[in-house]
Amino acid sequence: MLDNFLFVALPYITLLLLIGGSFYRAFTGSKTQFRGHVEWSARGDFLWTTRSTGFFGRASIGPAALSLHWGLLFVVAGHVAGFVGGAFGWTGWVEFFRWTGLFGGVLLFYGLSWALLRRLVIPQVRAMSTFDDIAVLVLLVAITGLGLYYPLARFSFGVSYAVGPWLAGIFQFRPDPAAIAGAPLIVRVHMIVAMAFLCYLPFTKLVHAFSFPFGYATRPPISMRSYLGLKR
Ligand code: HEM
Repeated sequence: MLDNFLFVALPYITLLLLIGGSFYRAFTGSKTQFRGHVEWSARGDFLWTTRSTGFFGRASIGPAALSLHWGLLFVVAGHVAGFVGGAFGWTGWVEFFRWTGLFGGVLLFYGLSWALLRRLVIPQVRAMSTFDDIAVLVLLVAITGLGLYYPLARFSFGVSYAVGPWLAGIFQFRPDPAAIAGAPLIVRVHMIVAMAFLCYLPFTKLVHAFSFPFGYATRPPISMRSYLGLKR
């Protein structure tokens, strides 16, 4: 029964909330006075932003932001390749996941830890931080740590050969929870926490990941000057 909920119902709920929730948020400004109005410009509201704290603790945000964004890109690319490879039995793709996921995962874990630490120890950043900001970082640190456990602590990899066919069954509407019954508990906990996180994602500031930078092409240039340049 529990397996049916976690590995049949939850994936569909995740897809529904992640895609449906993000579109609803993008078009209706669900958290502002745009609520319920279908209005593309709703994306311009203050809540569709990273609420960057780059003004405070500048020295720490650079390495944190760079490592977590590049790490995440490697991890996402790795998962996609690993699951497709697992579904078709392509060992090279799963090996690609193994190494990009490991490199990206360590980079992501480093960046996330920095980002969380600076939100907890720099008073101005702590004052600016909302529950969202902390919850997102704590969840991502947990998900990444769980994901890295087997490759780093047990030097074992390859659950993708079970998860690939399971995910294919989900997309073909022939879900089979038994396909991953043999997967290690820590990997299944990783998947459950990650799916819960993806359900929550559309209601957080992480929607900024979906804002394709079309506006950048048309917006007026911003002149950046070094501090020394300003003093001359
Ligand atoms: C925020 C989302 C996620 C992050 C940050 C994340 C992170 C990671 C990391 C760092 C690894 C280790 C990769 C390696 O060492 O090569 C990993 C492995 C894994 N992840 Fe995720 N993950 C996420 C979402 C998911 C989701 C949604 C699923 C499936 C529903 C999933 C399933 C797996 C599996 C099965 C492995 C082990 C692969 C194997 O042994 O072949 N992950 N994840």
